[in-house]
Amino acid sequence: MTEPRSTATDDILARRASALADDDGFFDDADRFDGDQLDREERTALRRVSGLSTELEDITEVEYRQLRLERVVLAAVWSEGTAQDAENSMRELAALAETAGSEVLAGVLQRRQRPDPGTYLGSGKAVELRDIVIAEGADTVVCDTELAPSQRRALEDVVKVKVIDRTALILDIFAQHAKSKEGKAQVELAQLQYLLPRLRGWGESMSRQAGGQAAGGQGMGSRGPGETKIELDRRRINSRIAKLRRELSSMKTHRDTRRGARDAHGVPAVVIAGYTNAGKSTLLNRLTHAGVLVDNQLFATLDTTVRRAETPEGRDFTLADTVGFVRALPHQLVEAFRSTLEEVADADLLLHVVDGSHPDPEGQISAVRAVLADVDATDVKEVVVINKADLADPEVVDRLLRHERHSIAVSARTGLGVDALRDLISVELPQPDIEVDVVLPYDRGDLVSRIYEEADILGEDHLAEGTRVRAKVMGDLAAELAPFAAKTA
Ligand code: GTP
Repeated sequence: MTEPRSTATDDILARRASALADDDGFFDDADRFDGDQLDREERTALRRVSGLSTELEDITEVEYRQLRLERVVLAAVWSEGTAQDAENSMRELAALAETAGSEVLAGVLQRRQRPDPGTYLGSGKAVELRDIVIAEGADTVVCDTELAPSQRRALEDVVKVKVIDRTALILDIFAQHAKSKEGKAQVELAQLQYLLPRLRGWGESMSRQAGGQAAGGQGMGSRGPGETKIELDRRRINSRIAKLRRELSSMKTHRDTRRGARDAHGVPAVVIAGYTNAGKSTLLNRLTHAGVLVDNQLFATLDTTVRRAETPEGRDFTLADTVGFVRALPHQLVEAFRSTLEEVADADLLLHVVDGSHPDPEGQISAVRAVLADVDATDVKEVVVINKADLADPEVVDRLLRHERHSIAVSARTGLGVDALRDLISVELPQPDIEVDVVLPYDRGDLVSRIYEEADILGEDHLAEGTRVRAKVMGDLAAELAPFAAKTA
């Protein structure tokens, strides 16, 4: 028999994606407390609301609505790229599914020129998928794409268990991880936008299987009771979306004000961005000794964390961690997180962290840059921080160092290269270059401390009328200091 053009079941995944293998040893003392242990426990114990019918009891329920994923089979169509790319993508999907709290039983990959418009996998393969679902005792199929609403329904009809797509999965993870008011509102907005075009039939095939009323109600007339309900839900969702938009825009105003205050103090801002699991939080901890949640999970960090840090010369800067990026981040999420991501555009320096031990670090770098381009944050000065140098293949690290002009290799876990990174940050930050010579009266301790935080001190002397300081400062501080210029003889 000749080899069929499309082969399914190419890949049965191991339970845990090896690319994200868990090595649970504690690192060193500085990392031992990640400050948020309880928080992590709380998250894993999150309430999971089962069922996803359009019967919303209360619209706000969507915010916390969890997809009930327990035992899943992954399905993907592989139409371009190498077998390795297809496998990486599926491993990432497995890691995402595990992060969402499910157990991955198997993965099937179909080689096909393009996904089937009807059922995503070809119809024959969809039936094979059904057999695998039964054999594995799975209750959910996760497809490695964003499915059209009709595709999802048609595939659900064949496999007879719940089918969800990558977008819904990522939204679910974000919903589990959002903590701040703003983060929750952003995720809810994205979820509602995703749900809106999918209201009809969301969970419908499930009720058909359960022998519910939905099947009877469907064929009868075009505007049965179900339809009215959908209209009603649609209106409620639309007004909720409008309300969330208003809330988010007022939160943005607050954030802008806070940031304005920081800028006015001339404290330079450094932002850490990078693919999910690249090690952003670990690096932030390293650079600031702060207790930030570090987790071998995707998207452990959702809310922007801003910390204060110092250059080796003692200049202050702020260091912010951002949400983890992922290939093809659902556009609803990029939209919803736009205002948070825009902070990157305003930063003085971007530390783009990439996991050097990942099978496709270049792919991750471009995925991150694509999102940054989406929010117009491509003009920021960027340093590519090749992380996990302790694990990575040295040849890969060298290759990355050669290709990325502004790059440095570190291990946030062992601390390797971190001092060099600190020096690099210090060089890349806007430099204080206006020389001042001032005498500050003793009641202006505030200005003295600002000089110490922000400037390069060249000399200091205690005089009867105050502290005389010679320093190199930035423009705004120079302006404030102007009235105190020392009288030169
Ligand atoms: P998200 O919140 O998902 O965006 O992740 P993140 O980029 O903040 O990654 P995080 O710092 O949570 O680290 C992810 C995993 O990688 C954790 O298990 C870390 O311990 C591990 N890790 C981070 N840096 C290093 C490193 O330099 N070497 C090694 N071997 N592991 C590291």
